[in-house]
Amino acid sequence: MLVLGIESSCDETAAALVEDGHNVLSNVVASQVKTHRSFGGVVPELASREHLRNIGYVVQRAFRDAKKSFADIDGIAVTQGPGLIGSLLVGVSYAKAMAFSIGKPLVPVNHIEGHIYSAFIENHDIEYPLLALAVSGGHTSLIFSPAPGQYQSIGRTRDDAAGEALDKIAKFLGLGYPGGPVIDRLSKKGDARRFAFSIPKISDGRLDFSFSGFKTAALRHIQLSGIKPRRPGGKPSKAILDLITSYQQAIIDTLVRQTQKAQSKLRPRSILLVGGVACNSHLRKAFKKAFEESCENRDSGGLIRVYYPSPLLTTDNGAMIAAAGTPKLLHPLPLDLELNASADLRLC
Ligand code: KG4
Ligand code: ZN
Repeated sequence: MLVLGIESSCDETAAALVEDGHNVLSNVVASQVKTHRSFGGVVPELASREHLRNIGYVVQRAFRDAKKSFADIDGIAVTQGPGLIGSLLVGVSYAKAMAFSIGKPLVPVNHIEGHIYSAFIENHDIEYPLLALAVSGGHTSLIFSPAPGQYQSIGRTRDDAAGEALDKIAKFLGLGYPGGPVIDRLSKKGDARRFAFSIPKISDGRLDFSFSGFKTAALRHIQLSGIKPRRPGGKPSKAILDLITSYQQAIIDTLVRQTQKAQSKLRPRSILLVGGVACNSHLRKAFKKAFEESCENRDSGGLIRVYYPSPLLTTDNGAMIAAAGTPKLLHPLPLDLELNASADLRLC
């Protein structure tokens, strides 16, 4: 089963050809980082225009890299939402027009489900039930999946997404955009205990997240300690390094703590760490330590395993959309030309 996956929900125009849900024949991503960098964040109108400019080339390149033609594919999978509406519309409209003109089935995919499937591309031994933490610039969600295609929402952020919280503080401190990878790299030199951040308690039974309090606390530390943003081209001060390391640690502790609570309640066999922030080396280590290397897991013979995709499949890409669309294309419905993008599409 050969599937074309198209992704355009935020600031990456992406297309990939994937065979049987795991064999990636091509994976083309046109990043818009340069366009948005000077604004310190994604500008939705500019993102839509860039998608329009790039989508034709990106899709053609995906076919060229895979050495396949339109006739070779069994169907198209496209991100329907959630995301920026103008960006999503470019991908959805392109996919509908293409499916119609080449006479192939089309299935819509939820972006979060795409991130979940990104872990399956390289790992063929993932067992259900699974618990997924989808953590990116736009989302922070804990999802329990008892069986393929079944999802229960266990928790989600009540304010900022974890990646957004990292990006905003990096912007404020003059560290560049996107901030997540910069903080990941710089925090290897910082002291995670220098600045205190208290983790908010959410007491209504849901395992939700909240990161906006960390941002306020960081701004207070910046003010009280007189921390100046990094000068363009200059090196970040020791105080900046310590602050971002402490800040990142608070975010990681929150993510681990809520996932641990969900794990002890739901007892999954597999834990998936997916979405752009899952590239974070400190977060990956913390998850391995908290789940795979925990005494409880060792005593029970290592029943729980943690999975995360390699970096190219972790940030937004078309391969994960193709992988998530593959089971849906086994029983495709007639082409729905009314299919529309949905900015706040829910998975569950
Ligand atoms: O999944 P993604 O490409 O797009 C969304 O669906 O939002 O995630 C982008 C986010 C950004 O906030 C970026 O700062 C963050 O992922 N990110 C990281 C790292 N690499 C990307 N955050 C922390 N550490 C990283 N190494
Ligand atoms: Zn994403």
